[in-house]
This record gives sequence, C-alpha cells and structure tokens, in this order.
Amino acid sequence: MKANLVLLPGDGIGPEIVSEAQRVLEKVAELFGHEFSFSSQLIGGISIDKTGDPLPQETIDACKASDAILLGAVGGPKWDDPSAKTRPEAGLLKIRKELGLFANLRPIRLFDQLVDSSPLKRDIIEGTDILFFRELTGGIYFGESGRSGSGQDETAFQSMAYSVREVERIVRMAAKAAQQRDNRLTSVDKANVLEPSRLWRQTAARVMAEEFPDVQYDVVLVDAMAMHLINRPRDFDVVVTGNLFGDILTDEASMLPGSLGMLPSASLGSDGPGLYEPIHGSAPDIAGQELANPLATILAAAMLLRHSLSLLDEATAIENAVAAVLADGLRTKDIARGGKHIGTKEMGAAVVERLQK
Ligand code: NAI
Ligand code: MG
Repeated sequence: MKANLVLLPGDGIGPEIVSEAQRVLEKVAELFGHEFSFSSQLIGGISIDKTGDPLPQETIDACKASDAILLGAVGGPKWDDPSAKTRPEAGLLKIRKELGLFANLRPIRLFDQLVDSSPLKRDIIEGTDILFFRELTGGIYFGESGRSGSGQDETAFQSMAYSVREVERIVRMAAKAAQQRDNRLTSVDKANVLEPSRLWRQTAARVMAEEFPDVQYDVVLVDAMAMHLINRPRDFDVVVTGNLFGDILTDEASMLPGSLGMLPSASLGSDGPGLYEPIHGSAPDIAGQELANPLATILAAAMLLRHSLSLLDEATAIENAVAAVLADGLRTKDIARGGKHIGTKEMGAAVVERLQK
C-alpha cells in the first residue's frame, strides 16, 4: 500500500527518536512491499524559533492531507519563560483539536524481559497487556466553568457533560479494538454518583448489546478500578473511560511497567489521520547524548500501522522485533539497571535488524 506519513520531530530528544522510528518504518515498507512517503514538519519550540508559531498553517495542512502522523515531543526549558506569548505545548493542543482526535489510546504492555523494572511483584504484573481508551475532547475538562461570590463564599464550579454521540463513538472504537485482541472490554465510570456516568453506562451497554454481542463486556467503578490496576492488572484487556478518569487511570497504569521510555500512545478521530507519539516528554536533560530510548516511539509507529493503516502483521512484526532486541539483552541506559547499555541509534539499528515478515 501507499501511505503518506507526516513526521513531527519537535524538541529535545524528539528528532533522535523519530528518526529511529522512521528507519524502522522504512524497513517495514521494504519487507512487506509498501510505499511510505515521509514529510517532516515543524511543531513546538523549534517551530516558535523558526516561525514564531508553535503550529504553523503549513504543518496543519500537511497533517490534514496525511494518512497518519508520528510525533516526537515538544517543549524544554528554553521556551519556559512565563512572559512568552506562546508555548510549545500550544502546538500539540491545537493539532489534536484541528484533527478532532477524541480518543486517546494507551497500551500498557509489560515486556517479559523488563518485568523486574516494575514496581510491582512479578507474580502480579507478569503478562499485563491492557489497552486504554480515554475520551479526550469532552467531559469535565471541556465543561462550563466559572466563579461567583467573594471572600469565604467565593465558589468555583466546573460541569461534566457527555452526550450519547460522544459515548457511542468511543465505545465503538474500543469494542472494535477488543475484537482484534482478547475480545474483552471494561467500561469505567462513577455511575453510583454522577449523572453523566449513568448516561455513559446506559449508552455503552446498549452499543455493546446491539453491535458487539460477541465481546465480553463489564463495568467497573473508577475508585475500584484504581485498586484493581495495581492488584490484578492482568485481568483487563481493553478499558474505555471518560476524560478525567482516563487521565488519572492512564497515568497510574503507565507506571506499572516502570519504564517511561517504552510506552507509546495514539490519538484518533472518527476519520482522518491519527497522531502517534511516545508518552514521555522531550527529555532535554539527555538530548543529543545518544541516551534516549527510541522504543516508545518505535512502538508508536507500530500502533500507527495497526490503527491508521490496518497493517496488523506489520505492526506485530515491529513489536516482535522489539521483544527480540530485549530478549538479546540490549538496553538503553534508562532500562539498563546499571549494566552495559547501548545508544539511541544502536537500539534503532538493532530493531531494524531483527524485523522479519
Ligand atoms: P520527560 O518525559 O521529558 O522526562 C522525564 C525523565 O524521563 C527525564 O529524566 C528524562 O531524561 C527521562 N526520559 C524521558 N523519555 C526518555 C527516553 N525516551 N529515554 C530515556 N529517558 C527518558 O518529562 P519532563 O522532564 O517533565 O519534561 C521535559 C519537557 O517535555 C518539558 O518541556 C515538558 O513540558 C515536555 N513534555 C512534553 C510532552 C509531549 O510532547 N507530549 C509530554 C510530557 C512533557
Ligand atoms: Mg495526565
């Protein structure tokens, strides 16, 4: 197949890790007979330096015309001046909004070879493989807010709203992903207290019964879920939840594998390109030193193939190559636990070398 991919390297370690992921994608294209074209565009601090704008129109246009987007990270101390009129992060928020990316996907997969990096005991964490779907453009973060009164009576409020349409589209997306995995979906809400959660629960149950009767479906309250995640993480396959609960639960879950440099994410809309990125930031403390772990970005490239291009075998091939590299004992410094470690480029090359059809 032909695909037109936009690369947004951004700041700090962004360019280093994105170029390793590009090499991996080029090798996949060669092995499986695809044609991927790459266009590198500006975002974040580097874009502010060059154009004054963290997300120039040219970048927006290129992203909209693409099949998928791979992002490194944005930001750094250079652009932290509080008096600056714009910040690198503004570019990231704007591109998500421009593309209508309402679903944030975070796989929490523990590679066997890294079990000992987890803060949890091996018998609890071993075999964990969860895919979170967090609703990203609705709920309390986008609800009406304000303040009234003064002094001790000054009061602030922020309201939470979800519509049937918003719930349906993310539940459908999560259920389809479940069908490609273990066929199990868990919806997380707070329906014992919150009205939007009751609408969420009712809508999700209907969509599942009508459209996905084959998917094993259950619901869990968010407070209980916070416990289950560190008590029995293996019991979950795909999890779908609203914006606020998803923000908190995905951060909790991302600590389970114990290595920031291994975790990818995706943001998807109903049609149009998806945006794929590592969950970590621009790591300015290690930029330009061959210390960055490119595996999160390489795994984000695998998600891109799976979710935007429906290239499932190709995605699995990348994940298998990453597992093979780890099985060979190759580690970047962040996952080396003090032992011998290799650099960013060596890690990228090792994945490319182990890729096979
Ligand atoms: P960070 O994730 O960049 O770094 C946290 C720690 O993890 C650092 O010690 C860093 O060296 C290490 N680390 C991160 N990724 C790594 C990798 N791939 N390999 C090896 N070590 C890695 O978070 P921090 O330091 O809070 O933020 C740095 C900058 O990144 C800030 O300007 C922040 O605003 C921005 N940021 C950007 C994000 C994005 O673009 N999506 C997300 C989070 C932060
Ligand atoms: Mg968060």
